Amino acid sequence: MTGNRRIAIYPGSFDPLTLGHDDIVRRALKLADGVVIAVAERTTQAKDPACPLDRRVEIISEVYADEPSVEVVQFSGLLVDFARARGARLIVRGLRAVSDFEYEFQMALMNRSLWPEIEVIFMAPATNYTFLSSSLVREVASLGGDVSAFVPPIVLDHLVEYYGPRVAGR
Ligand code: PNS
Repeated sequence: MTGNRRIAIYPGSFDPLTLGHDDIVRRALKLADGVVIAVAERTTQAKDPACPLDRRVEIISEVYADEPSVEVVQFSGLLVDFARARGARLIVRGLRAVSDFEYEFQMALMNRSLWPEIEVIFMAPATNYTFLSSSLVREVASLGGDVSAFVPPIVLDHLVEYYGPRVAGR
């Protein structure tokens, strides 16, 4: 993904990727020629990952296997260094509610201090996904709740493997 193509980086933990994330990917594709889903090794808010990083990358790659404009990669180190190395000057983040704003705004301004050429845009997801988060999906799945309405089918298959058939409402 080089040359004059406008590439948007969509960074995050994606543990797991939800339909809210997918909604943002598809919206970002309206603004950019390609989207790089950048799965972070190091996250600002320390979290214990439920799913190993390389497995997350594999699962998300499978979700977008038929979508040539979407690439899935893992990265370590600073997001801005990754973006610069990829020749991308656009970072996309989803903003669900005012509660997201402070964390997102801080990160956006820090990223811009680190590399003034980067632009961060916030995108609002579809209304029905505004309550959705990976941490809630993880919690519901770990307690045996049905999360089939919240994640793509490929992610659901993985959650079934991990937590059992109840998470798919079976
Ligand atoms: O899905 P998350 O966990 O909210 O995503 C946070 C993420 C991965 C975008 C952020 O932690 C990040 O950019 N990590 C990479 C390391 C880095 O650049 N840290 C400084 C951010 S200002």
